[in-house]
Amino acid sequence: MEQRKKDITILAIESSCDETAAAVVVNGREVKSNVISSQIDLHTLYGGVVPEIASRKHIEKIDQVIAEAMEEAKVTWDDLDAIGVTYGPGLVGALLVGVAEAKAISYARKLPLIPVHHIEGHISANYIENKELEPPFLCLVVSGGHTHLVKVTDYGKYEILGRTRDDAAGEAFDKVARAIGLGYPGGPKIEKVAKEGNPQAIAFPRGKVGDGVYDFSFSGLKSAVLNYLNGCKMKGETIVEADVAASFQKAVTDVLVGHAMDALDEYHMDKFAIAGGVASNGTIRQAMEEACREKGVKFYHPSPILCTDNAAMIGAAAYYDFLAGKRAGLDLNAIPNLKLGDTL
Ligand code: KG4
Ligand code: ZN
Repeated sequence: MEQRKKDITILAIESSCDETAAAVVVNGREVKSNVISSQIDLHTLYGGVVPEIASRKHIEKIDQVIAEAMEEAKVTWDDLDAIGVTYGPGLVGALLVGVAEAKAISYARKLPLIPVHHIEGHISANYIENKELEPPFLCLVVSGGHTHLVKVTDYGKYEILGRTRDDAAGEAFDKVARAIGLGYPGGPKIEKVAKEGNPQAIAFPRGKVGDGVYDFSFSGLKSAVLNYLNGCKMKGETIVEADVAASFQKAVTDVLVGHAMDALDEYHMDKFAIAGGVASNGTIRQAMEEACREKGVKFYHPSPILCTDNAAMIGAAAYYDFLAGKRAGLDLNAIPNLKLGDTL
């Protein structure tokens, strides 16, 4: 009788920004638990993430979050095959908490340590609910810190086709939300307000970058919104927040969809996925879905909870890195500006 291959159970840890998260994932795609302790309320007070506060809160929460994840998954230390952890990019003090914790567990329980790239985690979130999705495919990663158009050539193998030259898409959402007075985090607030507005009301620019066809630029759009708001104030005109939000969101959507569709044509890909916090935006998701349908391209996206920072996505990425033999030693360090494709 053919022997059944052993399941691989990974405990994954994520602490790169303002979520302390731990998850137990089996064979990269089966999420047994996904515990997220968000610090958003704390940082809202300051209008954005305060790195020192983030690190301190991660230290306070991490043991509890891991214990909860293991309890929910009904696993003990003996059931684990490896520990996966985000080691970059992100806030150095925040990353260090997860990395130190993962190293301690790896040492104490003699478990292999798998270093995971945060963006690779976001991309891998797509594997969890789409069991049939396999590379090659094209993926647009849009988060608070990153905007990357990536060709996923194989598990763990990426070719970056385009990236932002200035602000990330999520950063633009956050900055525009602050300017309109909606507060932090901006993405979900703009999406909500935009539902009541007219996306054609204000003609904001669609950022173009001369030499890099697939590169993005959102700082011009952000400035255009700020100028529009200032102009209204100076002329004593009323600002219709919903119209500003809807028109801004439409400008971002058009650029993201435009670049993605051009790349699908040039690289003849028949699968497209989105990932990252901004991918939880319903308007952007619908526009992508529609554009893909017109092309006959299969469209993939994670559920909103797997789009924003979580550890299940780190467990998915860690599994494929584990299979590829990627391991870190106890000298693993946090790398705040780690590039996608950099290897240890
Ligand atoms: O992936 P993520 O949780 O953290 C990073 O790795 O950056 O992304 C957070 C970003 C924030 O900028 C937030 O405003 C944005 O994702 N975001 C959204 C939405 N939900 C979160 N942007 C647009 N629409 C949303 N619904
Ligand atoms: Zn993220």
